[in-house]
Amino acid sequence: MCGIVGYIGPKEACPILLKGLYRLEYRGYDSAGMAVLDGDLKVFKTQGKVSDLETIYRNDTYSGNIGIAHTRWATHGEPNDVNAHPHFSPSRKLAIIHNGIIENYSSLKAELINRGYVFESETDTEVLIHLIEDIQLNENVDLEVAVRIALSQVVGAYAIVIISEDHPDQLIVAKKGSPLVIGIGKNEFFVASDPSPIVEHTKEVVYLEDEEIAVIPREGDLCVKNIKNQQKTPYVHHLEMQLSSIEKGGFPHFMLKEIYEQPRSIKDSMRGRLNASKGIISLGGISDYHQKLTNCQRIIIVACGTSWHAGLVGEYLFEDFARIPVEVEYASEFRYRNPVIDEDDVVIAISQSGETADTLAAIELARSKGATIIGICNVVGSTIARATDAGSYTHAGPEIGVASTKAFTAQVTILSLMALSVAGKKGSIPQSRFYELLGEMEAIPAKVEKTLQVNDAILAISEIFQHARNFLYLGRGYNFPVALEGALKLKEISYIHAEGYPAAEMKHGPIALIDEEMPVVVIATKKGSYEKVLTNIQEVKARKGVIIAIVTEGDEVVREIADHVIEIPETDEAFVPLLATIPLQLLSYHIAVLRGCNVDQPRNLAKSVTVE
Ligand code: AGP
Repeated sequence: MCGIVGYIGPKEACPILLKGLYRLEYRGYDSAGMAVLDGDLKVFKTQGKVSDLETIYRNDTYSGNIGIAHTRWATHGEPNDVNAHPHFSPSRKLAIIHNGIIENYSSLKAELINRGYVFESETDTEVLIHLIEDIQLNENVDLEVAVRIALSQVVGAYAIVIISEDHPDQLIVAKKGSPLVIGIGKNEFFVASDPSPIVEHTKEVVYLEDEEIAVIPREGDLCVKNIKNQQKTPYVHHLEMQLSSIEKGGFPHFMLKEIYEQPRSIKDSMRGRLNASKGIISLGGISDYHQKLTNCQRIIIVACGTSWHAGLVGEYLFEDFARIPVEVEYASEFRYRNPVIDEDDVVIAISQSGETADTLAAIELARSKGATIIGICNVVGSTIARATDAGSYTHAGPEIGVASTKAFTAQVTILSLMALSVAGKKGSIPQSRFYELLGEMEAIPAKVEKTLQVNDAILAISEIFQHARNFLYLGRGYNFPVALEGALKLKEISYIHAEGYPAAEMKHGPIALIDEEMPVVVIATKKGSYEKVLTNIQEVKARKGVIIAIVTEGDEVVREIADHVIEIPETDEAFVPLLATIPLQLLSYHIAVLRGCNVDQPRNLAKSVTVE
């Protein structure tokens, strides 16, 4: 959710922090702020974007070589200048930035108010920094000790960075539940929510573990302890991330860049894992649990949003190929049910960010019941990746656009590989079919490349429908999750109301919405329920609905009835989602751009949802 960044070293801190905030802005973007030690502690913050903060900085030019900065996605209190981070302690000698939620903040706040403290903001974060200073003064302890005592009283999730006027040569950081990474440069340190602001300065990083507190000195070594005051030895990772992967590379938006990256990202998801001619799928990350997956009685897939849609495709894949019953659950619902689950079940948790709080909680619940947990994550080293028993990274590369695109197709690719590898082991599909499917998978990146050629045609359709107020998306079988995903993309970035439905369900209600004003996007590719979908198209046309059809190359039948037709290459029914999703991503992208929407940072959203 929120993005946090910090710097201590010999250089001017503010420009480094500002650049870092721009890199992290995809995490949250309703307000931004910065604190720098410029003699005394200076805090400047504002509602709005990082560019608004930069304007303040340019006018006032603060200077100093230690500082912290934050870009916010509001949880406690509306986005405004006061609720923006950093927050001061009562003496204004400490300032804090925070990502996460202090769940017991209201009881802590009530206690502090009783003791005479006054709060400026509505945030849980300000409560924490008041508590820390209160402990520091009343118990007469060092700042580091006060932080440790305060955090042991806190319920919830946090990644925090504290700067102190009395300690100009150190930053104190801590984390639980929310990610935090420390970059180790030459005589300088960087702190951030993820490596994207760090990678241009250093590739050596330490990922802080939950309930660890680090004192980051201006000179000397990092000192990491856990909340019980036990010394920890930080493990230094070398980042593989390239700077180019987090820049737009000539594209006007990250979303478009990421859509166009899909031939490569899908290939990267398969790289070293698929050898079609030899009939080999090797998923190293789950090899110790492959037997368990192959023999399990049931698979439960937990995820949110787009990752949940990928999970739905996974349901079809595992049932079709591996003949294992699958349930796909919204992680947010699963975690609060009393699900029937035991040690014979395998839970597959899917998350691009690897940070989604609901998915993480679902994993913890499943683990407490003894199930085996397999993860499918994009972000290497993320919380969910570390919380699972085994897993496969999607290797799609950093996804910066808030609307997920290449992560979805990468997740579906991994699910296809998993389902097929189990099928291969079980012999649940004939060998000839197995080889045929593997060959077709290998051909997918080239077919995605070809699918991208529909861009101009999609732009023309977008121009026609940019002012529509509602959209309906219909698909059946493997294309039902595609319809859901198409509708979600449009909603997220263009703010047009859109619904995805299984095509045959339309007549049970949504058909009432159809008139000449209603564009209906139908995924009507050959195979599967093609004939049935044709009937659904006729039903829409009979009510004057406008059909935009995604069809298999060369289809003349749908062309006769539909108003607009987009062709995609032919592939096996099971892999159609990998192709059919692409025109829908482009449709939402172009409509959003034509409507003047902020495609990469749509309103109210954030890239990783680390709160409930
Ligand atoms: C996708 O476009 C959304 N921004 C959102 O639905 C997202 O997929 C969801 O929040 C899950 O995120 P995750 O994959 O990082 O867990």
